[in-house]
Amino acid sequence: MDKFALGMWMCLLVLSPILAIRLTPCDLAGQLYILDVPKTELGQWLCIAEFESRFNTHVVGQGNSDGSRDYGLFQISDRFWCAPPKATPYHAFNGCNVNCTELLSDNITTAVHCARLIKKQQGWTAWSVYEEFCNGTLSDAENCFQPETTETTLTPDPEIEITTVVTEMD
Ligand SMILES: *[C@@H]1O[C@H](CO)[C@@H](O)[C@H](O)[C@H]1NC(C)=O
Ligand SMILES: *[C@@H]1O[C@H](CO)[C@@H](O)[C@H](O)[C@H]1NC(C)=O
Ligand SMILES: *[C@@H]1O[C@H](CO)[C@@H](O)[C@H](O)[C@H]1NC(C)=O
Repeated sequence: MDKFALGMWMCLLVLSPILAIRLTPCDLAGQLYILDVPKTELGQWLCIAEFESRFNTHVVGQGNSDGSRDYGLFQISDRFWCAPPKATPYHAFNGCNVNCTELLSDNITTAVHCARLIKKQQGWTAWSVYEEFCNGTLSDAENCFQPETTETTLTPDPEIEITTVVTEMD
């Protein structure tokens, strides 16, 4: 997404509060982790989602100069990667083999799979925000996982004790 498009959807976001349904950064980190995204990539994905969509899964950017639109959390282009709801002259490929509207779901599975395919084929620079905002020191997604780790360490797990008893009776 180019800078003009970024400006456009920011206007859209301000004018349409109903679209402002957002994930928190740690929600997103947790969901990415469950979807097998390597922990070493979480910082980059969080950064891209922040600058592309402000963590909003429902955003459709409309400002690209060629008339194409960008969909969802990672602002995936309907020019090359998904099928737009209506046939358009600029649509060239459906690289992720999905309908673009699937990329707007609260269930981010499809959007994540598509974004990872794009990254695999084109690298991080497929996102124009990457070079400017995301290629450097990033906020540490590791912080999102610490409370859980601490809890697990401090709380004895009753199931382990039950299992032990059963084993001894055997
Ligand atoms: C896209 O949506 C159309 C109509 O709803 C459906 O027929 C088609 O199977 C969908 N394609 C994919 C890849 O989900
Ligand atoms: C989310 O979508 C994926 C793929 O479409 C599906 O396998 C999964 O069950 C869905 N998860 C939920 C919580 O609905
Ligand atoms: C990212 O930063 C490194 C180190 O500053 C630089 O060598 C590289 O070219 C940058 N990559 C992109 C895509 O901007």
